Amino acid sequence: MSGLDALAGTREIASPHDMEQLGDEMGRMLRPGDLVVLTGPLGAGKTTLTRGIAQGLGVRGPVQSPTFVIARTHPSLVGGAPLVHVDAYRLGSPAELDDLDIDFEASVVIVEWGRGMVDGLRDTWWEVELDREWHGRGQDDACYGVAHEAELDADAPRLVTIRRRP
Ligand SMILES: Nc1ncnc2c1ncn2[C@@H]1O[C@H](COP(=O)(O)OP(=O)(O)OP(=O)(O)O)[C@@H](O)[C@H]1O
Ligand SMILES: [Mg+2]
Repeated sequence: MSGLDALAGTREIASPHDMEQLGDEMGRMLRPGDLVVLTGPLGAGKTTLTRGIAQGLGVRGPVQSPTFVIARTHPSLVGGAPLVHVDAYRLGSPAELDDLDIDFEASVVIVEWGRGMVDGLRDTWWEVELDREWHGRGQDDACYGVAHEAELDADAPRLVTIRRRP
């Protein structure tokens, strides 16, 4: 796995456009066999980042939130690896992810809500943590839920941390 070593660390991403740009850069660095786990709260930008990764890989879109589909395969348009986009939100265990019979070796696999879901499935993977509550607001606010529902779609910076795991 060559992967994302050059991108490891934390950066601020100002807008959805910049998030897609980062994804595009990642997509151009990812190789078959690479696994990327996206972690972060609702609306953090996991699917937006995946859209950029798809563009960088040169796979067929569109990348959407896989609401009803747990895993969607996007074939390559440039003779490269397919992208398998997994939403692990409703999966209970790594065994359930394993049951999907994903061809990890031949694909680039992105797993939203994947923390704790891939342990044991691969020797090494990339974790991308997206945080949308880093200006001192957030969990402690009295009306946390209401405030953030309304703000979810407004452009706001995200903190993105890329690290190799385990
Ligand atoms: N800096 C930013 N980076 C990414 N998205 C942003 C940013 N600022 C605002 N947004 C908005 O936040 C939303 C992110 O939605 P997205 O579907 O990518 O999140 P998600 O993490 O996949 O959510 P879910 O947990 O529901 O799967 C979009 O509406 C996007 O326009
Ligand atoms: Mg999503």
